[in-house]
Parts: sequence; structure tokens; C-alpha cells
Amino acid sequence: MNIHTIILAGGKGTRMLSQKAKVLQALGGRTMLDHVMTTANKITDKISVVVGFDKEGVEEEIREIGINANTYLQKEQIGTADAVKTALNDINENEKILILYGDVPLIKEETLKKLCNQESDLSILTTNLENPTGYGRALKDKENNVLGIIEEKDADSEQKKIKEIFTGILVAKGGILKKHIPEIDDNNSAKEFYLTDLIGIAYKNGFKINTLSSSNEETTGANNRSEQEELEKTLRIMKSEDLLANGVTLLDKSRVDVRGEVKTGADCVIDVNVIFEGYVELGNNVEIGANTILCDTKIGDDTKILPFSHIAASEIGAKCSIGPYARLREGSVIMDGARIGNFVETKKTRLGRDSKANHFTYLGDAEVGNEVNIGAGTITCNYDGKEKHKTNIGDNSFVGTNSSLVAPVTVGKNAYVGAGSTITKDIPDNALGVGRGKQKNKENWSKTKK
Ligand code: UD1
Ligand code: CA
Repeated sequence: MNIHTIILAGGKGTRMLSQKAKVLQALGGRTMLDHVMTTANKITDKISVVVGFDKEGVEEEIREIGINANTYLQKEQIGTADAVKTALNDINENEKILILYGDVPLIKEETLKKLCNQESDLSILTTNLENPTGYGRALKDKENNVLGIIEEKDADSEQKKIKEIFTGILVAKGGILKKHIPEIDDNNSAKEFYLTDLIGIAYKNGFKINTLSSSNEETTGANNRSEQEELEKTLRIMKSEDLLANGVTLLDKSRVDVRGEVKTGADCVIDVNVIFEGYVELGNNVEIGANTILCDTKIGDDTKILPFSHIAASEIGAKCSIGPYARLREGSVIMDGARIGNFVETKKTRLGRDSKANHFTYLGDAEVGNEVNIGAGTITCNYDGKEKHKTNIGDNSFVGTNSSLVAPVTVGKNAYVGAGSTITKDIPDNALGVGRGKQKNKENWSKTKK
């Protein structure tokens, strides 16, 4: 679609009581501006952002988001019409302009597409609110034609009863904006240049105006902390509902936080207090236990993640069991059928097929073969104070409990490490390596202490 989107992000957001611009407030771990720009980017090829208060902060955030956008500086925050005016010179008469408010962050791509596809000169998105206080109301005649928008501060008591509100989102032909925005004045109780006056002006000039009605959950704004918290809940439920719609079982849809993106296979089950960050992919029949955090991770079919696990930047195969209380750090690759138990930490480590590290272990910079048993308390000593070194453990080997493997070191295939060993030299295939002090028993020693 050939649409140019203008996002209004100049306001201070006085009611947030913040030092930052309002659009930099976060929802689901991302700024409101990020939500709006990401959605806009899916349907338009040109994005402009009007900046003003905390210009540097907002521009830096645009760079972080990484979506291409022109910025326009609104010197003083004297109203939404004035904000659009800053971009008028770069608007073409014939292009469709989509205007989005940076503090209305949950708007959905499908709704914007519908709005942009309306056959009209100007289309506005409205919604019905049980409590419309604070919003601009849609004034309509008996035939349901929009005559204009009246702001809360300027509405009389009858108009205040209107429940259909303007969401701040509209699409108009460039020519209408270029010609009529400069006509808007600040003759109102807020002494601001209201973009919403454009609708009345367009009506008087005989343009065809359409309204499209949206669900109110995606069009509520966040003007203060309480509304921000409400939106946080709404966003959480929206994301959970996406999971349910994709066939996932959730034990409580209000206790799952999808802060990034999740792709799921069939029959996955997600328990309570699970947080997803970045991009997470679950295969078929994956179970995620309670109080687990998953970040940028891929999990294979039939794998179970048991409660209280923290997994980041890792890849887990099929039919694995991870946790409870496991911590998989960046670069952990767990092959099919492997098991990681409680209080096991892995980093830049590959654990081979059907291998096990079931209790109290640190595996860092390690290459562990297939069908290996790592005993409780095994530590790869990968750091010498300056550099990291690798530990290699061959297929079918057995590392006895409480062993320190001082890297760089190799334990061969089918080899054994005696419990309590400090291994500093390579162990050949099929050998037993024992590196511990010999036990001495002193007979009747306790008597000498009395
Ligand atoms: C606005 C609408 C109101 C609508 C509501 C929907 C106007 C006059 N009113 O009210 O009809 O129901 O949104 O959420 O438009 N901004 C600037 N420069 C400015 C002023 C604002 O860039 O000078 C930006 C803000 O950063 C914000 C957006 O425009 O992202 C909306 O401004 P805000 O002051 O929150 O408008 P509302 O009072 O909520
Ligand atoms: Ca607002």
C-alpha cells in the first residue's frame, strides 16, 4: 500500500510525571513508540515522526528501533494540528496520509489496513467507551454522518454523554491536510491547535468522511501511569489470546508475559508466570513449567522445561528435560534426549544426545559428547583469570561427582573420571583418570582428642 504514516510523538505527557517523552514510556518491555512504529512499518513504506519534547531521547529511540523514519521538529507543543503542520511540506497531494498518535500503542495492523482501504477523502477511527472522559467525541447527524469532533474541554453536558470517541487515528488525502490544516486556529478552551478540528472543516468543505469503529482495547491511550498499567494488562491478554488462537494451552492467560515474539507448534502447554523475551520458538508438545523465563531460544518437540528455569540464547533439541532451577546461558546447545537438572548452569556448551547433567554443575565452553553422564558438582574450570578455555568430553564417558575439569582439557571417549578429581591432564579414550589426595585413616584418632 502506498501510504505515508505520520506519528505524533512531540508531547511531554505531563500527566506521566516523567522526565522522558511520553512515547518513551514502556509497555511489555518496549517503548510505546516502538509498538506504533513496528505496526506502521508493516503496512506503510514511508514513516515520519514528529518530535518535540525530549527530542534527543526520541531520536535515539528511533535509531534503536532501527526502522527508517524522517523526523520533524515541533518547536513548541501547541497542539496536534501544529504537530502535523511540521511535516506538511513533504506531503504529496495525492498520497494517502495515515496519522497515528504515539500514545495509542496497541493499534493492530488489520485495523489500520481496514482504515486505509476505506473509499473516502478522510476516514477516522472511532470506538465506544463506557467512560469516554478525556477523549474527543464524534458528533454525528441522524444519518450517522460525522460532522466533527468536539474535545472534552469544549464539550457541553449533552456532548459529554456521547460514548463514541475519536481514537486519534485517521487517514486523509495529502491534499486535504495541505490545504486545511493551516486553517485550524487555537480558538478553544485549551488554546491549542486541535487536529480534530480538521474533521469539521472537511465536512463543511463537502469531503466524503467515513468512520470505522474499532475495539476499544487496541485504541485506548496512555496518558498517565494508571492508564499505562491498564494497557500493560491489555497487551498481556492480547498476546496470550494470540497463543490460545494458535492452539496453545495456557493455565492462566493473565499470568503469561510475551514481551517478544513466540512461535508455537501443536499442543504446547504453558504454566503460570512464564516470560517470553526476544524470539522464542517452541516445537510440538512442549511444556513450559511455572516461573520460567525464556529469551531468544528454540525448543524441540516433546521437550519439558520444568519450573524456575532461566534460558537465554540457547537451542534445545527434542525430548529433553530441563530444570527445575536450570540456567542455560548464551550459546547452550542441548541435543535430543539430553537432561539438565536442578542448579545446573551452562554457557557456550554443547551437551550431546542423551547426555545428562542432573545436579549442581557448571559447564562453560564445553563440548560434551553423546550419552555422557556428568556427576553432581562437576565444574569445568574454563577461566584462568585472563582467558577462557575449552573442555572436551567424549561420547559415553562418565564424570564422577565433585570433579573439577581444569581447561583446556580433554576427557576421551568411554573414559571415566574418579569422583572428587581435579583433572589437569587429558584422559585418553577408555581410561580412568583419578586426581585426588589419597585417603588416610588414623586409627583411634578420636581418643587422642579427649
Ligand atoms: C487526542 C485527541 C482526542 C482523542 C485522543 C485519543 C486532539 C486535539 N485530541 O487527545 O480527540 O480522543 O487524542 O487518544 O488531537 N502531540 C504532539 N504535539 C503536540 C501535542 C501532542 O506531538 O503539540 C502528540 C503527543 O505526543 C501524543 C499525541 O500527539 O502522542 C496526542 O496528544 P495528547 O496530548 O495525548 O492528546 P489527547 O489529549 O489524548
Ligand atoms: Ca493522549
